[in-house]
Amino acid sequence: MLRGQKALVTGANSGIGKATAISLGRAGADVVVNYVCEPQAAEAVVAQIKSYGVRAYAHEADVSQEDQVVSMVDRMVEELGTLDIMVANAGLQRDATATEMTFAQWQKVLDVNLTGQFLCARAAAKEFVRRGVVPQVSRSAGKIVCMSSVHQIIPWSGHANYAASKGGVLMLMQTLAQELAPQGIRVNAVAPGAIRTPINRDAWDTAAAEADLLQLIPYRRVGDPEDIANAVTLLASDLMDYVVGTTLYVDGGMTLFPGFATGG
Ligand code: BGC
Repeated sequence: MLRGQKALVTGANSGIGKATAISLGRAGADVVVNYVCEPQAAEAVVAQIKSYGVRAYAHEADVSQEDQVVSMVDRMVEELGTLDIMVANAGLQRDATATEMTFAQWQKVLDVNLTGQFLCARAAAKEFVRRGVVPQVSRSAGKIVCMSSVHQIIPWSGHANYAASKGGVLMLMQTLAQELAPQGIRVNAVAPGAIRTPINRDAWDTAAAEADLLQLIPYRRVGDPEDIANAVTLLASDLMDYVVGTTLYVDGGMTLFPGFATGG
């Protein structure tokens, strides 16, 4: 499905990013596995991707640092020739109530989750514009997939920094989509609900916590990283070529106001 395409996935050594990098590789893309810590985990992802007969390497970079993002994409163009798919996935939480939240917690989350996505999208868009459409590879000049969250529209007490960052991702994605579509670039987002990854371990790693969480999920299943990886792979492919500026919610129905199933 993605043979001949070159993908970069940020935060690809664990969780959703890891599953996504593997899925893109299985679909035939060459993949750059970005990480900021735990290089061995990134190398394991690279090894799995290479087993599909495509090229892959790991690249350490902090997506919130402009120079590191620029040199990551420069190296990719040098080593793999170009970039076709940017998955701006890297993200984190630093939870605290509003009155307890430190400026450092606020800033860190905005830096990585929002500024990081802008820097990655900008670097990718420059390369897409430079290269233009190569019809044998893809109908579009390039695809940017922003990893958002159901919290781009669901307010979340105790997580003002995170919810604000994801709300920002929604408007960043839509604005970039509007601006870049005339140049043949498709920008979209995937908005996961509760997915079993390290970021939210507390919400699912005991039976009691999981039971609570399932009350928020009409489909009554906590998502797996592969649920998101599949959505990203599809969105990045030409099967979705006419999809521009959309958020694909992959959340088991979490955004359906489950409280209203019985109340209201
Ligand atoms: C957060 C998780 C949370 C999920 C659903 C995600 O964006 O990172 O911690 O479980 O949203 O609330």
